[in-house]
Amino acid sequence: MAKRAEITGIAHYVPDQVLSNFDLEKMVDTSDEWIRTRTGISERRILKEGATSDMAAKAVQALLANRGIGAEEIDVIIVATVTPDMFFPATACLVQDKVGAKHAWGFDLSAACSGLLFALVTGAQFIESGAYRKVVVVGADKMSSIVDYKDRNTCILFGDAAGAILLEPTDDMSVGMIDRVLHCDGSGRDALYMAGGGSLNPPTAETVAQGMHYLFQDGKAVFKVAVVGMADVSREIMDRNGLKGSDVDWLVPHQANLRIISACAERMDLDMSKVMVNIDRYGNTTAATIPLCLSEWWQQGKLKKGQTVVLSAFGAGFTWGSILLKWSLANPVAH
Ligand code: UT7
Repeated sequence: MAKRAEITGIAHYVPDQVLSNFDLEKMVDTSDEWIRTRTGISERRILKEGATSDMAAKAVQALLANRGIGAEEIDVIIVATVTPDMFFPATACLVQDKVGAKHAWGFDLSAACSGLLFALVTGAQFIESGAYRKVVVVGADKMSSIVDYKDRNTCILFGDAAGAILLEPTDDMSVGMIDRVLHCDGSGRDALYMAGGGSLNPPTAETVAQGMHYLFQDGKAVFKVAVVGMADVSREIMDRNGLKGSDVDWLVPHQANLRIISACAERMDLDMSKVMVNIDRYGNTTAATIPLCLSEWWQQGKLKKGQTVVLSAFGAGFTWGSILLKWSLANPVAH
């Protein structure tokens, strides 16, 4: 019998250290006013010690505690990240070891800001096929490790965080992951990338001198396609499921820019009161933004069982997509 993948646990981790717009004013030629009005960001978190797997492991440990299960029950760990600890071994292996998931296998998935969506859809396949019963999907990025803090175009945007989601099977076909729309278009490769370090430009003193180990973004070019891409895909998933704006309880958009988020909400006929926004406190944490929103809203009792939720993202690649969920995890505040 067909199974549905539902979210049965959610948690996140953010480092303690805050990097505010005022701190950035002392580092590059920028202002708190410019950053807030152009992006919606006031501050972001920075991981000083450790790597992506440390944040991911903390998020997974919190997830296991919330769900009340042991690490040895996990079957699969998928880590969406563009900042793996190393090229190999996979960050998923490091997380597996750090949390003691001794029966799990896993792998990393690279889809930048859409990574969490790609990983959720991938994880759901393992559940829907009946192959596995407990799949942990992590979105984690230590963006501070690839950002040039001398480049005002990018250093104001990004932060570090991790979010973790547990997927399990249910026979109830009215809940869980109902639909998904995913895309990629590699012709967008020149707008957002990190040139150095890979097989195209292996690291040398010269690649480092040229700053090729930092991310590059043509912000204006990405902005235009992100607005259209995220809005189109969100509208598409609503239309093909017969949903109007009033039927959607929450839009959970990737947090890249408040102006992109508002444009997407407008296209979906959604009031901003139904849109999860925490970009002001965390900036763009790449694969972590969506689980970070879901986890905070759930912990605060605002994301409730039975609600209709649309997740949407746009990122490097280009990659973009949308997922429609019927949330089935009981509200922790209600207990
Ligand atoms: O998450 C993955 C996908 N990424 C995105 O979706 C990001 C998409 N892009 C954006 O969010 C926006 O393009 C940015 C926030 C990156 C930039 O905003 P913008 O409104 O597109 O600004 P801009 O790049 O067109 O720059 C406008 C002006 C320029 O000055 P001139 O040429 O008009 O004199 C920039 O040099 O603002 C200047 N500028 C800054 N000024 C103060 C650029 N960065 C800064 C800064 N502080 N940090």
